[in-house]
Amino acid sequence: MQKREHWGSKMGFILAASGSAVGLGNIWKYPHMAGENGGAAFTIVYLICILVVGLPLVIGEFVIGRKTQLSPVGAFESIAPKSNWKWVGMLGVASAFVILAFYGVVGGWTLRYAFLSLVGGFSELAGNPELAGEQFNTFISNSINPIFWQIIFMGFTMIVIVQGVKGGIEKWTKVMMPAIFIILVLLMIRGLTLPNGTKALEFLFQPKFEDLTASSIVLALGHAFFTLSLGMGTMITYGSYLRNDQNLLSSALWIIFLDTLIAMMAGVAIFATVFAMGADPGAGPGLIFVVLPTIFPNIAGGALWGTLFFFLLFMAALTSAISILEVITAYFIDQKKWSREKATFLFGTVVTIVGIFCSMSMGAFNDFNNIFNISFFDFLDYLSSKYMLPIGGMLTAIFILYKWGISNFIADMVLGMENPKINHTIIRILFAVSASVVGFIILNEVIANLTGTPIIG
Ligand code: PHE
Repeated sequence: MQKREHWGSKMGFILAASGSAVGLGNIWKYPHMAGENGGAAFTIVYLICILVVGLPLVIGEFVIGRKTQLSPVGAFESIAPKSNWKWVGMLGVASAFVILAFYGVVGGWTLRYAFLSLVGGFSELAGNPELAGEQFNTFISNSINPIFWQIIFMGFTMIVIVQGVKGGIEKWTKVMMPAIFIILVLLMIRGLTLPNGTKALEFLFQPKFEDLTASSIVLALGHAFFTLSLGMGTMITYGSYLRNDQNLLSSALWIIFLDTLIAMMAGVAIFATVFAMGADPGAGPGLIFVVLPTIFPNIAGGALWGTLFFFLLFMAALTSAISILEVITAYFIDQKKWSREKATFLFGTVVTIVGIFCSMSMGAFNDFNNIFNISFFDFLDYLSSKYMLPIGGMLTAIFILYKWGISNFIADMVLGMENPKINHTIIRILFAVSASVVGFIILNEVIANLTGTPIIG
């Protein structure tokens, strides 16, 4: 049997796992969700969800991975042999296909926009959101251009993954994570020193609870899963490359802290710029690809800031995309005994092809839209963030509570901790609460779809 790969250092693991967490979710999704849902009020609910639901599940996934030294399918099978629990692992592998397909498309957009800004392509968009919107729509619905960038993005993802855990994932995230952080600090300073820039702080951190609706609570919870890469075994897979000397509680806290910090910093950098230029903070998903390109040309050195911003977004997307492809690759290595090369390139290519349909669903390939009333792209996003990840997360919590057992779980969790004082009841309550909250939200979504009226929202 092949020897299992391991991380080279504790720090390397923390950076790789935070690289998975920090991605388009933090820099693209969070700011526009906050912008549309009352700013600070949304931020507070989001933080509560991260702590209550996110923290136990991050630790839960790490422990399952480290204990079994296997990726999700093998991990569930090894703790619960000859049971149906391995299907939770399979669901994770399926989610990886679904998410990476559309994630790679947006990853391609980030590269194209970085390039466009570099060659001065934003200058004609200055202060003209209509034109920027039109150009964005023309770009994403084109049958060749976005696919070209998507293939480059997926190519980078495969190149990192084929180099393995220590020589690929760890090596690259150790460079990219600090780079992301430094660029964000620069962008934040740039934004806050623009006139009116500090309004962003008020917008993001001074809550007006009347703006908070039930549906934004649901949204915040779903986003907590997506942003922490939970519910599909990413953290099980990364945990499976750990040795027993890592303190998983402090690692999980670090990852959650960094993920949240970067989302907040991105929010400040983006909204400071938006407020300084009098643009609309509630512009929705187009906030980054439509509004920002109209603003950068009006700032001194705008082409450079624009390039830096989209390059940062590209790196954040890449460190997440690799963690998604690793779930698929590790499954074929662990369960099917494939070589890393074969698994990476074969399935990297398959996902890229599904992604091409996703990209084309915004243009030429719109049969899907006509039949199901939603584009293939939006469908994959919806399916994964509203169902697959929450269901995977809820089942993982139930698995720990009822199949593995809290005492067995804690016996493994405390390995690597200096003087663990763990209260079993508290851990049990945390998992029970996160499973129930998530279960309720899934039910709410199902009922909303069946009857048209959700229980809350
Ligand atoms: N956490 C990533 C982000 O916020 C997305 C992701 C989801 C990555 C699921 C891995 C698994 O963009």
